Amino acid sequence: MMPNLRAALRRLIGSLLAAFAVAACNGTEAGDMGRRVEQPVAFNHQLHIVELEMDCTECHRYVTTNRKATLPTAEVCADCHSEPQGESAEEEKLVSLISSEEGLNWQRIYVLPKHVYFSHFRHVTLGQMGCPECHGSMSELSRPPSQPAVNILDMDYCVDCHEDQLVSNDCLACHI
Ligand code: HEC
Ligand code: HEC
Ligand code: HEC
Ligand code: HEC
Ligand code: HEC
Repeated sequence: MMPNLRAALRRLIGSLLAAFAVAACNGTEAGDMGRRVEQPVAFNHQLHIVELEMDCTECHRYVTTNRKATLPTAEVCADCHSEPQGESAEEEKLVSLISSEEGLNWQRIYVLPKHVYFSHFRHVTLGQMGCPECHGSMSELSRPPSQPAVNILDMDYCVDCHEDQLVSNDCLACHI
Protein backbone atom coordinates (compact mmCIF):
# COMPACT_ATOMS: atom_id res chain seq x y z
CA MET A 1 0.00 0.00 0.00
CA MET A 2 1.23 3.54 -0.75
CA PRO A 3 2.44 5.35 2.39
CA ASN A 4 0.12 8.37 2.03
CA LEU A 5 -2.89 6.11 1.51
CA ARG A 6 -1.97 4.19 4.64
CA ALA A 7 -1.65 7.41 6.62
CA ALA A 8 -5.06 8.59 5.37
CA LEU A 9 -6.63 5.25 6.29
CA ARG A 10 -5.14 5.47 9.73
CA ARG A 11 -6.63 8.95 10.27
CA LEU A 12 -9.97 7.63 9.10
CA ILE A 13 -9.81 4.70 11.54
CA GLY A 14 -8.89 7.08 14.34
CA SER A 15 -11.95 9.25 13.81
CA LEU A 16 -14.31 6.32 13.25
CA LEU A 17 -13.19 4.66 16.44
CA ALA A 18 -13.50 7.89 18.39
CA ALA A 19 -17.16 7.99 17.28
CA PHE A 20 -17.55 4.36 18.32
CA ALA A 21 -16.16 5.12 21.77
CA VAL A 22 -18.69 7.90 22.35
CA ALA A 23 -21.56 5.69 21.17
CA ALA A 24 -20.46 2.88 23.49
CA CYS A 25 -20.23 5.01 26.63
CA ASN A 26 -23.76 4.76 27.96
CA GLY A 27 -24.71 1.11 27.78
CA THR A 28 -23.67 -2.39 28.73
CA GLU A 29 -21.73 -2.82 25.49
CA ALA A 30 -19.20 -5.46 24.61
CA GLY A 31 -16.11 -5.08 26.75
CA ASP A 32 -17.91 -3.64 29.77
CA MET A 33 -15.85 -4.92 32.72
CA GLY A 34 -18.63 -4.49 35.28
CA ARG A 35 -21.26 -6.60 33.49
CA ARG A 36 -22.55 -9.58 35.49
CA VAL A 37 -23.62 -12.73 33.71
CA GLU A 38 -26.08 -15.52 34.47
CA GLN A 39 -25.21 -18.89 32.92
CA PRO A 40 -27.83 -21.58 32.16
CA VAL A 41 -25.84 -24.08 34.28
CA ALA A 42 -23.17 -23.43 36.92
CA PHE A 43 -20.36 -25.09 34.99
CA ASN A 44 -17.33 -26.18 37.01
CA HIS A 45 -14.01 -25.81 35.14
CA GLN A 46 -11.92 -27.17 37.99
CA LEU A 47 -13.81 -30.46 38.17
CA HIS A 48 -13.61 -31.12 34.42
CA ILE A 49 -10.03 -29.93 33.91
CA VAL A 50 -8.29 -31.09 37.09
CA GLU A 51 -10.28 -34.11 38.28
CA LEU A 52 -11.50 -35.40 34.91
CA GLU A 53 -8.30 -34.30 33.11
CA MET A 54 -10.11 -32.85 30.13
CA ASP A 55 -8.28 -30.64 27.66
CA CYS A 56 -9.52 -27.11 26.85
CA THR A 57 -9.94 -28.13 23.20
CA GLU A 58 -12.52 -30.79 24.06
CA CYS A 59 -14.96 -27.93 24.70
CA HIS A 60 -13.34 -24.89 23.10
CA ARG A 61 -12.83 -26.82 19.91
CA TYR A 62 -11.40 -24.19 17.58
CA VAL A 63 -9.01 -22.42 19.94
CA THR A 64 -5.83 -23.76 18.31
CA THR A 65 -7.03 -23.54 14.70
CA ASN A 66 -9.33 -20.52 14.29
CA ARG A 67 -9.92 -16.95 15.41
CA LYS A 68 -12.68 -17.92 17.83
CA ALA A 69 -12.25 -20.46 20.62
CA THR A 70 -16.06 -20.97 20.73
CA LEU A 71 -18.21 -22.18 23.64
CA PRO A 72 -19.47 -25.79 23.74
CA THR A 73 -22.87 -26.79 22.34
CA ALA A 74 -25.21 -29.10 24.27
CA GLU A 75 -24.02 -32.02 22.09
CA VAL A 76 -20.52 -31.70 23.58
CA CYS A 77 -21.91 -32.09 27.11
CA ALA A 78 -24.32 -34.80 25.95
CA ASP A 79 -21.37 -37.10 25.26
CA CYS A 80 -21.28 -37.66 29.03
CA HIS A 81 -24.43 -36.04 30.43
CA SER A 82 -27.31 -37.42 28.40
CA GLU A 83 -27.72 -39.61 31.51
CA PRO A 84 -26.87 -38.29 35.02
CA GLN A 85 -23.32 -39.01 36.20
CA GLY A 86 -23.91 -37.94 39.79
CA GLU A 87 -26.50 -36.32 42.00
CA SER A 88 -25.96 -32.60 41.75
CA ALA A 89 -28.90 -30.28 41.11
CA GLU A 90 -26.90 -28.40 38.48
CA GLU A 91 -26.31 -31.60 36.57
CA GLU A 92 -30.01 -32.40 36.76
CA LYS A 93 -30.70 -29.01 35.17
CA LEU A 94 -28.17 -29.80 32.44
CA VAL A 95 -29.62 -33.22 31.67
CA SER A 96 -33.08 -31.72 31.25
CA LEU A 97 -31.76 -28.87 29.08
CA ILE A 98 -30.01 -31.43 26.86
CA SER A 99 -33.15 -33.52 26.42
CA SER A 100 -35.35 -30.46 25.86
CA GLU A 101 -33.17 -29.50 22.87
CA GLU A 102 -33.45 -25.91 24.05
CA GLY A 103 -29.69 -25.59 23.72
CA LEU A 104 -27.26 -23.94 26.12
CA ASN A 105 -27.29 -20.23 25.79
CA TRP A 106 -23.90 -19.45 27.39
CA GLN A 107 -23.21 -15.80 28.08
CA ARG A 108 -19.76 -14.58 27.09
CA ILE A 109 -17.70 -12.31 29.27
CA TYR A 110 -14.74 -11.92 26.90
CA VAL A 111 -16.13 -9.94 23.98
CA LEU A 112 -14.13 -7.42 21.99
CA PRO A 113 -15.83 -4.63 20.07
CA LYS A 114 -16.46 -5.52 16.41
CA HIS A 115 -13.79 -3.14 15.14
CA VAL A 116 -11.00 -5.17 16.75
CA TYR A 117 -9.42 -8.20 15.07
CA PHE A 118 -8.17 -10.94 17.40
CA SER A 119 -7.14 -14.48 16.53
CA HIS A 120 -6.63 -17.35 19.00
CA PHE A 121 -4.79 -19.34 16.32
CA ARG A 122 -2.28 -16.51 15.97
CA HIS A 123 -1.57 -16.27 19.72
CA VAL A 124 -2.03 -19.85 20.95
CA THR A 125 -0.57 -21.76 18.00
CA LEU A 126 1.84 -19.40 16.24
CA GLY A 127 2.72 -17.39 19.38
CA GLN A 128 2.69 -20.49 21.63
CA MET A 129 1.01 -18.60 24.46
CA GLY A 130 -0.80 -20.35 27.31
CA CYS A 131 -4.44 -19.54 28.15
CA PRO A 132 -3.65 -18.15 31.66
CA GLU A 133 -1.69 -15.29 30.10
CA CYS A 134 -5.00 -13.73 29.03
CA HIS A 135 -7.68 -15.62 31.00
CA GLY A 136 -6.07 -16.26 34.38
CA SER A 137 -6.25 -19.72 35.88
CA MET A 138 -9.57 -21.17 34.65
CA SER A 139 -8.65 -24.55 36.14
CA GLU A 140 -9.09 -23.11 39.65
CA LEU A 141 -12.66 -21.96 39.07
CA SER A 142 -15.48 -24.10 40.40
CA ARG A 143 -18.12 -21.61 39.23
CA PRO A 144 -18.44 -19.61 35.99
CA PRO A 145 -16.51 -16.33 36.09
CA SER A 146 -18.62 -13.19 36.00
CA GLN A 147 -15.78 -10.89 35.03
CA PRO A 148 -12.58 -11.19 32.98
CA ALA A 149 -9.64 -12.30 35.15
CA VAL A 150 -7.21 -10.13 33.23
CA ASN A 151 -7.78 -6.76 31.62
CA ILE A 152 -7.41 -8.26 28.14
CA LEU A 153 -10.31 -6.31 26.64
CA ASP A 154 -8.41 -3.07 27.18
CA MET A 155 -6.33 -1.81 24.26
CA ASP A 156 -3.35 -1.01 26.52
CA TYR A 157 -3.07 -4.64 27.57
CA CYS A 158 -2.71 -5.77 23.95
CA VAL A 159 -0.38 -2.95 23.02
CA ASP A 160 1.93 -3.38 26.04
CA CYS A 161 2.54 -7.04 25.32
CA HIS A 162 3.08 -6.37 21.62
CA GLU A 163 5.64 -3.73 22.54
CA ASP A 164 7.47 -6.16 24.88
CA GLN A 165 7.47 -8.94 22.32
CA LEU A 166 8.29 -6.73 19.34
CA VAL A 167 5.01 -7.46 17.57
CA SER A 168 3.39 -4.86 15.30
CA ASN A 169 1.39 -2.09 16.97
CA ASP A 170 0.20 -0.71 13.66
CA CYS A 171 -3.39 0.45 14.15
CA LEU A 172 -4.37 -1.54 11.08
CA ALA A 173 -3.08 -4.80 12.55
CA CYS A 174 -5.84 -4.78 15.19
CA HIS A 175 -8.47 -2.49 13.70
CA ILE A 176 -10.32 -3.79 10.69
C1 HEC B 1 -16.07 -29.73 29.67
C2 HEC B 1 -16.05 -28.51 28.90
C3 HEC B 1 -14.99 -27.45 29.13
C4 HEC B 1 -13.64 -27.61 29.27
C5 HEC B 1 -12.83 -28.88 29.27
C6 HEC B 1 -13.08 -26.26 29.37
N1 HEC B 1 -14.09 -25.34 29.31
FE1 HEC B 1 -13.91 -23.32 29.33
N2 HEC B 1 -15.93 -23.08 29.28
C7 HEC B 1 -16.83 -24.13 29.23
C8 HEC B 1 -18.17 -23.59 29.38
C9 HEC B 1 -19.46 -24.41 29.41
C10 HEC B 1 -18.05 -22.19 29.50
C11 HEC B 1 -19.19 -21.16 29.73
C12 HEC B 1 -19.57 -21.17 31.20
C13 HEC B 1 -18.50 -20.62 32.11
O1 HEC B 1 -18.06 -19.51 31.90
O2 HEC B 1 -18.09 -21.34 33.04
C14 HEC B 1 -16.62 -21.91 29.43
C15 HEC B 1 -16.07 -20.64 29.51
C16 HEC B 1 -14.71 -20.37 29.38
C17 HEC B 1 -14.13 -19.05 29.31
C18 HEC B 1 -14.89 -17.75 29.38
C19 HEC B 1 -15.36 -17.34 28.01
C20 HEC B 1 -16.26 -16.14 28.02
O3 HEC B 1 -16.10 -15.23 27.18
O4 HEC B 1 -17.15 -16.09 28.87
C21 HEC B 1 -12.78 -19.20 29.21
C22 HEC B 1 -11.76 -18.09 29.11
C23 HEC B 1 -12.50 -20.61 29.22
N3 HEC B 1 -13.71 -21.30 29.33
C24 HEC B 1 -11.24 -21.16 29.20
C25 HEC B 1 -10.96 -22.51 29.34
C26 HEC B 1 -9.63 -23.05 29.46
C27 HEC B 1 -8.37 -22.21 29.49
C28 HEC B 1 -9.75 -24.40 29.54
C29 HEC B 1 -8.65 -25.44 29.71
C30 HEC B 1 -7.66 -25.16 30.76
C31 HEC B 1 -11.18 -24.71 29.49
N4 HEC B 1 -11.88 -23.53 29.39
C32 HEC B 1 -11.74 -25.98 29.53
C33 HEC B 1 -16.54 -25.46 29.06
C34 HEC B 1 -15.27 -26.01 29.15
C1 HEC C 1 -15.91 -36.56 29.25
C2 HEC C 1 -17.16 -36.56 29.98
C3 HEC C 1 -17.78 -35.22 30.34
C4 HEC C 1 -18.09 -34.15 29.50
C5 HEC C 1 -17.86 -34.06 28.01
C6 HEC C 1 -18.74 -33.18 30.33
N1 HEC C 1 -18.80 -33.60 31.63
FE1 HEC C 1 -19.71 -32.66 33.19
N2 HEC C 1 -19.18 -34.15 34.44
C7 HEC C 1 -18.56 -35.33 34.07
C8 HEC C 1 -18.39 -36.19 35.25
C9 HEC C 1 -17.74 -37.56 35.27
C10 HEC C 1 -18.93 -35.47 36.33
C11 HEC C 1 -18.93 -35.88 37.81
C12 HEC C 1 -20.26 -36.43 38.23
C13 HEC C 1 -20.31 -36.55 39.74
O1 HEC C 1 -19.56 -37.33 40.27
O2 HEC C 1 -21.09 -35.79 40.34
C14 HEC C 1 -19.44 -34.20 35.78
C15 HEC C 1 -20.10 -33.25 36.54
C16 HEC C 1 -20.78 -32.17 36.02
C17 HEC C 1 -21.66 -31.30 36.77
C18 HEC C 1 -22.04 -31.48 38.23
C19 HEC C 1 -20.89 -31.23 39.14
C20 HEC C 1 -20.91 -29.88 39.78
O3 HEC C 1 -19.85 -29.32 39.97
O4 HEC C 1 -22.00 -29.39 40.07
C21 HEC C 1 -22.09 -30.34 35.90
C22 HEC C 1 -23.05 -29.19 36.19
C23 HEC C 1 -21.47 -30.61 34.62
N3 HEC C 1 -20.68 -31.72 34.72
C24 HEC C 1 -21.63 -29.82 33.49
C25 HEC C 1 -21.08 -30.11 32.24
C26 HEC C 1 -21.28 -29.29 31.06
C27 HEC C 1 -22.10 -28.01 31.02
C28 HEC C 1 -20.62 -29.92 30.05
C29 HEC C 1 -20.50 -29.45 28.61
C30 HEC C 1 -19.98 -28.10 28.44
C31 HEC C 1 -19.98 -31.08 30.58
N4 HEC C 1 -20.28 -31.18 31.92
C32 HEC C 1 -19.22 -31.96 29.85
C33 HEC C 1 -18.15 -35.67 32.80
C34 HEC C 1 -18.24 -34.85 31.68
C1 HEC D 1 -3.35 -13.26 23.85
C2 HEC D 1 -4.51 -13.39 24.70
C3 HEC D 1 -5.32 -14.66 24.70
C4 HEC D 1 -4.87 -15.96 24.84
C5 HEC D 1 -3.44 -16.46 24.97
C6 HEC D 1 -6.05 -16.79 24.87
N1 HEC D 1 -7.17 -16.02 24.73
FE1 HEC D 1 -9.11 -16.65 24.73
N2 HEC D 1 -9.76 -14.73 24.36
C7 HEC D 1 -8.93 -13.64 24.25
C8 HEC D 1 -9.72 -12.50 23.81
C9 HEC D 1 -9.20 -11.10 23.54
C10 HEC D 1 -11.06 -12.95 23.68
C11 HEC D 1 -12.25 -12.16 23.15
C12 HEC D 1 -12.21 -12.38 21.64
C13 HEC D 1 -13.28 -11.73 20.82
O1 HEC D 1 -14.19 -11.08 21.34
O2 HEC D 1 -13.22 -11.89 19.58
C14 HEC D 1 -11.05 -14.36 24.05
C15 HEC D 1 -12.17 -15.17 24.09
C16 HEC D 1 -12.16 -16.50 24.50
C17 HEC D 1 -13.34 -17.33 24.67
C18 HEC D 1 -14.77 -16.88 24.45
C19 HEC D 1 -15.33 -17.49 23.17
C20 HEC D 1 -14.66 -17.04 21.92
O3 HEC D 1 -14.59 -17.85 20.99
O4 HEC D 1 -14.24 -15.90 21.80
C21 HEC D 1 -12.91 -18.57 25.07
C22 HEC D 1 -13.76 -19.79 25.35
C23 HEC D 1 -11.46 -18.53 25.15
N3 HEC D 1 -11.05 -17.25 24.80
C24 HEC D 1 -10.66 -19.60 25.50
C25 HEC D 1 -9.26 -19.61 25.42
C26 HEC D 1 -8.44 -20.80 25.63
C27 HEC D 1 -8.97 -22.20 25.93
C28 HEC D 1 -7.13 -20.40 25.48
C29 HEC D 1 -5.88 -21.26 25.54
C30 HEC D 1 -5.85 -22.45 24.67
C31 HEC D 1 -7.15 -18.96 25.19
N4 HEC D 1 -8.46 -18.54 25.14
C32 HEC D 1 -6.03 -18.17 25.02
C33 HEC D 1 -7.59 -13.60 24.51
C34 HEC D 1 -6.76 -14.71 24.64
C1 HEC E 1 0.84 -11.49 26.31
C2 HEC E 1 1.20 -11.01 24.99
C3 HEC E 1 0.11 -10.60 23.99
C4 HEC E 1 -1.12 -10.03 24.27
C5 HEC E 1 -1.72 -9.68 25.62
C6 HEC E 1 -1.74 -9.78 22.98
N1 HEC E 1 -0.93 -10.20 21.97
FE1 HEC E 1 -1.34 -10.07 19.96
N2 HEC E 1 0.40 -11.01 19.55
C7 HEC E 1 1.32 -11.45 20.47
C8 HEC E 1 2.38 -12.17 19.80
C9 HEC E 1 3.61 -12.80 20.44
C10 HEC E 1 2.06 -12.16 18.41
C11 HEC E 1 2.85 -12.79 17.27
C12 HEC E 1 2.44 -14.25 17.19
C13 HEC E 1 3.13 -14.96 16.03
O1 HEC E 1 2.61 -14.88 14.92
O2 HEC E 1 4.18 -15.57 16.28
C14 HEC E 1 0.81 -11.40 18.29
C15 HEC E 1 0.19 -11.11 17.09
C16 HEC E 1 -0.96 -10.38 16.94
C17 HEC E 1 -1.55 -9.95 15.69
C18 HEC E 1 -0.92 -10.15 14.32
C19 HEC E 1 0.04 -8.98 14.09
C20 HEC E 1 0.60 -8.90 12.70
O3 HEC E 1 1.63 -8.24 12.54
O4 HEC E 1 0.04 -9.48 11.79
C21 HEC E 1 -2.70 -9.27 15.98
C22 HEC E 1 -3.65 -8.61 15.02
C23 HEC E 1 -2.84 -9.26 17.42
N3 HEC E 1 -1.77 -9.94 17.97
C24 HEC E 1 -3.90 -8.66 18.09
C25 HEC E 1 -4.00 -8.64 19.49
C26 HEC E 1 -5.12 -8.02 20.21
C27 HEC E 1 -6.30 -7.33 19.56
C28 HEC E 1 -4.85 -8.19 21.54
C29 HEC E 1 -5.67 -7.74 22.74
C30 HEC E 1 -7.08 -8.10 22.75
C31 HEC E 1 -3.58 -8.89 21.65
N4 HEC E 1 -3.10 -9.13 20.39
C32 HEC E 1 -2.98 -9.21 22.85
C33 HEC E 1 1.28 -11.24 21.82
C34 HEC E 1 0.21 -10.71 22.53
C1 HEC F 1 -2.57 -4.77 19.57
C2 HEC F 1 -3.90 -4.37 19.20
C3 HEC F 1 -4.26 -2.91 19.01
C4 HEC F 1 -3.52 -1.96 18.34
C5 HEC F 1 -2.14 -2.11 17.70
C6 HEC F 1 -4.31 -0.76 18.35
N1 HEC F 1 -5.49 -0.97 19.02
FE1 HEC F 1 -7.00 0.39 19.32
N2 HEC F 1 -8.04 -0.97 20.37
C7 HEC F 1 -7.65 -2.27 20.64
C8 HEC F 1 -8.64 -2.89 21.47
C9 HEC F 1 -8.58 -4.31 22.02
C10 HEC F 1 -9.66 -1.94 21.69
C11 HEC F 1 -10.95 -2.13 22.51
C12 HEC F 1 -10.75 -1.49 23.83
C13 HEC F 1 -12.03 -1.15 24.52
O1 HEC F 1 -13.12 -1.41 24.00
O2 HEC F 1 -11.91 -0.56 25.60
C14 HEC F 1 -9.26 -0.75 20.98
C15 HEC F 1 -10.01 0.43 20.96
C16 HEC F 1 -9.66 1.56 20.25
C17 HEC F 1 -10.47 2.76 20.17
C18 HEC F 1 -11.84 2.96 20.77
C19 HEC F 1 -11.80 3.81 21.96
C20 HEC F 1 -11.53 3.07 23.18
O3 HEC F 1 -10.54 3.39 23.88
O4 HEC F 1 -12.28 2.13 23.48
C21 HEC F 1 -9.76 3.68 19.42
C22 HEC F 1 -10.17 5.11 19.06
C23 HEC F 1 -8.51 3.03 19.01
N3 HEC F 1 -8.50 1.74 19.53
C24 HEC F 1 -7.56 3.61 18.20
C25 HEC F 1 -6.34 3.03 17.88
C26 HEC F 1 -5.32 3.71 17.09
C27 HEC F 1 -5.44 5.11 16.51
C28 HEC F 1 -4.28 2.81 16.98
C29 HEC F 1 -2.91 3.03 16.35
C30 HEC F 1 -2.13 4.11 16.94
C31 HEC F 1 -4.67 1.59 17.69
N4 HEC F 1 -5.93 1.76 18.20
C32 HEC F 1 -3.89 0.44 17.77
C33 HEC F 1 -6.49 -2.88 20.18
C34 HEC F 1 -5.50 -2.28 19.45
